[in-house]
Amino acid sequence: MGRIVVFASGSKGGVGKSATAANLCGALAFKGYSVALVDTDTGLRDQGNNGTRTASNWCAARNYLIEQEGQPYVEVTSYMLSPEEKIHSQLMELAKTNDYVVVDTPGSAHTALRSAILVADVIYLPMNCSRAEFMPLSSFFGLISEVEELLEMSGNARSIDARLLPIRIPANWRPDNTEFYQWFSENAAPYASLSSVKIPFIKVLCDSVGQGWSLHDVKDKKRASFDLLIDEINGTRGLMINRGVEEGSAV
Ligand SMILES: Nc1ncnc2c1ncn2[C@@H]1O[C@H](COP(=O)(O)OP(=O)(O)OP(=O)(O)O)[C@@H](O)[C@H]1O
Ligand SMILES: [Mg+2]
Repeated sequence: MGRIVVFASGSKGGVGKSATAANLCGALAFKGYSVALVDTDTGLRDQGNNGTRTASNWCAARNYLIEQEGQPYVEVTSYMLSPEEKIHSQLMELAKTNDYVVVDTPGSAHTALRSAILVADVIYLPMNCSRAEFMPLSSFFGLISEVEELLEMSGNARSIDARLLPIRIPANWRPDNTEFYQWFSENAAPYASLSSVKIPFIKVLCDSVGQGWSLHDVKDKKRASFDLLIDEINGTRGLMINRGVEEGSAV
């Protein structure tokens, strides 16, 4: 079975879910893995959003470029699923035939996200470590506790593997003794782990993702962050703070 990796957020949008999901897919494809990218952020399209802001737009642009340029890049296959429907069965099906299933979401607590949480091996919550991004995460923590209560009532008690992923931060940022760390200890630690990977602000990422490329495709040296993220997803790199989730505990 492939691993199911979900990108989500609290009530605040624009935290970097799609750009991070796209770059993770590019990194995995570069390493030769088969990747299914599932986009449940279908609302953006209806609002006439253009360019590559959704992960599936990025994927379509990348596959077009690969076809045009004839480069030896491995394609990522994308699937668009409605945020209003349960998607856990489709994710499980895709995990049978792909090494990784990466799910991008609009973030808020919609039906697709609730069902994806149940089958996810890992849920990443990208966040900028500023106060404005702390508070909106409480809606996601509420969802985690709701889902865990339901699991417990159905006799399948387990912890959901949600991880805060610091992104768009200065390269020398450390969590110790910061306002973030205090907030994390008091509010987030019961619900989420803290990733040991930090994704800095990367101008090339911003530019390349808009064109349909990932950092691995353009061979930028800062792609190393995504190599570390893959190691953490695979369990070969530890978390900075683990809320107490056992490896491979997802159903
Ligand atoms: N590490 C990074 N360095 C620089 N820019 C970044 C980084 N990550 C994301 N961005 C940029 O931040 C902006 C918002 O990112 P993105 O669209 O991925 O957020 P999102 O959480 O998917 O938003 P939404 O909630 O609207 O779906 C984009 O312009 C993206 O290119
Ligand atoms: Mg997005």
